[in-house]
Amino acid sequence: MAPHYNILVLPGDGIGPEVVREGTQLLSEVASLYGFQVEFEEGLVGGASIDAYGKPLTAPVLKLAKQSDAVLLGAMGGPKWDGLDYAIRPERALLALRQELGLFANLRPAKLFSALLSASTLKPEVVKGTDLLVVRELTGGIYFGEPKGVTRLPDGTERGVNTEVYTTPEIERIARVAFEAARKRRKKVTSVDKANVLEATELWRRVVTRVHREDGYGDVELEHILVDNCAMQLIRNPKQFDVIVTTNLFGDILSDEAAMLTGSIGMLPSASLGGKVGMYEPVHGTAPDIAGKDLANPLATLLTVALMLRHSLDQGEAASRVEQAVEMVLEEGYRTADIQDPGCRLVGCKEMGRLVRERIEKLS
Ligand SMILES: NC(=O)c1ccc[n+]([C@@H]2O[C@H](COP(=O)([O-])OP(=O)(O)OC[C@H]3O[C@@H](n4cnc5c(N)ncnc54)[C@H](O)[C@@H]3O)[C@@H](O)[C@H]2O)c1
Repeated sequence: MAPHYNILVLPGDGIGPEVVREGTQLLSEVASLYGFQVEFEEGLVGGASIDAYGKPLTAPVLKLAKQSDAVLLGAMGGPKWDGLDYAIRPERALLALRQELGLFANLRPAKLFSALLSASTLKPEVVKGTDLLVVRELTGGIYFGEPKGVTRLPDGTERGVNTEVYTTPEIERIARVAFEAARKRRKKVTSVDKANVLEATELWRRVVTRVHREDGYGDVELEHILVDNCAMQLIRNPKQFDVIVTTNLFGDILSDEAAMLTGSIGMLPSASLGGKVGMYEPVHGTAPDIAGKDLANPLATLLTVALMLRHSLDQGEAASRVEQAVEMVLEEGYRTADIQDPGCRLVGCKEMGRLVRERIEKLS
C-alpha cells in the first residue's frame, strides 16, 4: 500500500498563505509522481487566529499538529497585531508549537545556488560553492534559563539578568542530530562555543566531544571553534563549513549571518525537529510590504517542502528532485522581484511555483 501522510498546514499571515499554497501544490504533485499520498488539514495561526479566536494558537490546532506527520507553516505577525500584549502576540504561537512538539533542533541550510551568485553581498569567489547547515539548539540556553528578568535596585537603577543553562542530555541530543545530519552530507561537524569564557559552553564542548567518541561517529570529522572566530570565518571562507552545531543564542545569530551569504531571505528553508512531528517553515517573515500582490518568492517554502520530504516523509529522492527543479528554474533565468537581476525573466509567486512543478515532472 502507498505510504500515507497527514500534513497540518498553517499558512499564517501576510505572504504566508501565498507561499504555502505553492508548497502544498508542490507536495501534491510530488506525491503523485513518487507514489505516496498526502492529506492536508488546514488551521489558523498567529494574527489570523487572534482575529478569529482571540489567541494566536488554539487547542484544536495544537491537537491537529500533534496528530499529524508534519506541519507546514507559513509565517505569522504583522503591523495589525504589533500593539498587542506580549503574551498574545502572534509570535507566541511559534514558541508554543516548538515547546509543545518538543522541537529542540532547528536546521537551517544555507546553500548558494550558482545562478544567484550576484545576489550575495560578498565576492563571488568567496561565496561560490557555499553549502552549509546550521543546527541550532532551540529549547534551552539563555532564552529559557532561570533566573531571568529585570529588577529595580535600591539606588533606583535597574538590573537585567538572563542565564545560560545547558544540561548533559540537552547537549547530547543536539550533538546527535548534527552528527546524523553530517552523515547525509559531507561528514564534517563544527561545534561552536565560547568555552574560553563561558562555563556552560565549556560543558557543551566536552559533551559534544564525548558523544562523537562514544556514540560511534568516528566517520564524521569533528572540530571546535569559538563563536567569534566562527562569525569571522563564515564571511572569510564559508566553504570550509558543512554542519555547524551550536547553542540557541549563537545559532540565532550565526544562522542569520549564514543566510546573508546566499543573498535573499526569500530562498531560505528551515526545519525544526526533535519530537515525533517535525515542523517546517521558510525563514522569512510575513513581508507585509508585498503581501497579497503575488510578489513573494515561494522558493524558500518549496525548499522547506524538500526538507519535509527528506526528514519527516522518508522521501529523500523526491527531496533532491525538488532542489534540482529549483536550481533548474534559476539557471533558466526565472526570478521573483527580490532576487531579480538585469536580463532575468521576472515572474510572480504563482508562476514561480508552477515552473518548479513543471520541471519536477520533467526530471522524474
Ligand atoms: N517565523 C515567523 O513567523 C516570522 C519570522 C520573522 C518575522 N516575522 C514577522 O513578520 C513581520 C515582518 O517582519 P520583517 O519585515 O522583519 O521580516 P520579513 O522577513 O517579513 O521581511 C523582511 C524583508 O524581506 C522581504 N521578504 C521576506 N520574505 C520574502 C519573500 N518570500 N519574497 C520576497 N521578499 C521577501 C520583505 O518584503 C521585507 O522587505 C513581523 O510581524 C515579524 O514579527 C515572523
